[in-house]
Amino acid sequence: MCGIFAYLNHLTPKTRKEVLDFLVNGLKRLEYRGYDSAGIAVDSADGRNVSIIKKNGKVQALQDEIYSREADLAFEATADCHVGIAHTRWATHGTPSERNAHPQRSDEDNTFCLVHNGIITNYKDIKLFLTKKGHTFESETDTEIIAKLMMHIYKKNPNDTFQEIVEQCIQQLEGAFALCIKSKLFPGECVATRRGSPLLVAIKTKTRLATDHIPILYGKDLVTSLDFRPHGGTAAETLTAASLMPRTPSTAEFQPMEEDKQVEYFFASDASAVIEHTNRVIFLEDDDVAAVKDGTLSIHRIRRNMDDPHAREITTIKMEIQQIMKGNYSFFMQKEIFEQPESVVNTMRGRVNFDTQSIVLGGIKEYIPEIKRCRRLMLIACGTSYHSAVATRQLLEELTELPVMVELASDFLDRNTPVFRDDVCFFISQSGETADTLMALRYCKNRGALIVGVTNTVGSSICRESHCGVHINAGPEIGVASTKAYTSQFISLVMFGMVMSEDRISLQQRRRDIMKGLQQLEEQIKEVLKLDSKVQELAKDLYQNKSLLIMGRGYNFATCMEGALKVKELTYMHSEGIMAGELKHGPLALVDETMPVIMIVMRDPVYTKCMNALQQVTARQGQPILICEKGDKDTQEFASRVLEVPHTVDCLQGILTVIPLQLLSYHIAVLKGCNVDCPRNLAKSVTVE
Ligand code: M6R
Repeated sequence: MCGIFAYLNHLTPKTRKEVLDFLVNGLKRLEYRGYDSAGIAVDSADGRNVSIIKKNGKVQALQDEIYSREADLAFEATADCHVGIAHTRWATHGTPSERNAHPQRSDEDNTFCLVHNGIITNYKDIKLFLTKKGHTFESETDTEIIAKLMMHIYKKNPNDTFQEIVEQCIQQLEGAFALCIKSKLFPGECVATRRGSPLLVAIKTKTRLATDHIPILYGKDLVTSLDFRPHGGTAAETLTAASLMPRTPSTAEFQPMEEDKQVEYFFASDASAVIEHTNRVIFLEDDDVAAVKDGTLSIHRIRRNMDDPHAREITTIKMEIQQIMKGNYSFFMQKEIFEQPESVVNTMRGRVNFDTQSIVLGGIKEYIPEIKRCRRLMLIACGTSYHSAVATRQLLEELTELPVMVELASDFLDRNTPVFRDDVCFFISQSGETADTLMALRYCKNRGALIVGVTNTVGSSICRESHCGVHINAGPEIGVASTKAYTSQFISLVMFGMVMSEDRISLQQRRRDIMKGLQQLEEQIKEVLKLDSKVQELAKDLYQNKSLLIMGRGYNFATCMEGALKVKELTYMHSEGIMAGELKHGPLALVDETMPVIMIVMRDPVYTKCMNALQQVTARQGQPILICEKGDKDTQEFASRVLEVPHTVDCLQGILTVIPLQLLSYHIAVLKGCNVDCPRNLAKSVTVE
């Protein structure tokens, strides 16, 4: 939720227009994370102040505003050193508006300006405290208190460095944050920090970097204590000068090599915003404070956790710029649907050996004996990722012979679900940052369970906090609606089941069938994608309806729920995924000749039961649209329209049946003029609970 981008050039001359373009383009890459308002803070044209520009709506509106102020902003002037921060917002506190957009500021002089992702849970207490100190607030955001608190700390300790002010400030914050801060008191400097929200620093130099690690500098607790009494009690303040342990020598910082003092730094919520500039990044950890001063980056922590490494690694990310461009497609979602023949192969690449019929999952290999001894498997996730767990549960029960619980992360936490040391908990998440899933992960980890992450985002919080895991390798997914991540999560869980059943004699034929199915997937998905124009025609018939029911059972129940979720989030049309076995227990009452119904009927073990459901629908004058196996004429006889998909092994059929529904939701959204990649009220990465 929300996207942060910041750019600092040191001894690297750039025109102000270039800087502004970098900021705006960075935001455009992050827009899928939040898109109700956007803003930037840059040095004013005379270099003595900070200018903030904010706009309600999408990043394009901000760009138009910036371009309308070309003269004001001195586009052609050059800056050797400059810091700009930028933000695209998904509102949590306060309505979407310019006032509530970020950057938020400390005062009318824009002394401290900052952009924030996350939620500050104790902001009311801090606000009360600051109000009593005479600060006035101009927005409804939780973020504004951070800027004002920095100002307050600065006034108490005017000799503190920028990084020290930030360190003292974040000690007072509760909740989740990623922050990037600019101050007119500290020109050319930028400080960034995170807790619970992702943030990375990317480095660009002309020559090869001299180091792969940035050692961490530890300080002792700064002696700032602002006692915010909960629930509005009087706030007592004991704020004294910061006292720091002597820092490790400056060799512990990242300095560009002597012959190359020219350096550029980028701060961003995710790598897609920086990849066009550099692939060298550091993923910050919770409570890291990254500070750039005089072109030198240092990473500070107030205290050291025993299991913390002493340095942050500079990693080379493998993402390609083409992966985050739309190419010839109209929308990212469309591109991502059509990438599935390739993305499923990437998920299996280097893992599945079709010649030897074997599968190796490097990220969990060492843990397989422990997993085999466990009491039960728990698959925990939200939204589409949850559906991938539902889709594979039956197969995992069959192949592992273990009880498999599938849980929505938020509900799992609400219930305080009992978790034991001999449980194995899978956390499935495209982004690897979903707050509910991450909270559930921590809950299970604290109870001693083995934590397995299944994510698409290298370096994400779920990756880092898991004991072991599987990267689904679907490539960046930018459309808010998850498509290719679903099919790759599905395959990752199937591969896990296969690994667990490798030595089971009784399952050898079943395993061979699944292997064959996996091998054929690429071609079969291509075949399903050829239904596109037929699905588009169907969308024309359906898009003006108010509701759409999607029914199926067994392996295809997950497809129904996933299809209905896609329809809801993209088209704002009511849609429900219905377990066909439940039809006569209530949903059948909805069926008449006007209610659009899609039914999934495959030649699998529940075929006869599905046919019963189909007949129950037609007996009530329902006009079901059928997703069924290619050439299955007997079944098609009952349908008003048919979408045929190729036959595969029952447990993989859901990969093929979901694609027509992805296409359908896409086409309905286009016909209704909805914003396909950025559906209203949603964001790609849900980092708030
Ligand atoms: O990043 P995650 O997989 O953890 O996200 C979970 C859900 O928020 C996500 O799948 C959401 O349901 C999608 N927008 C659905 O298309």
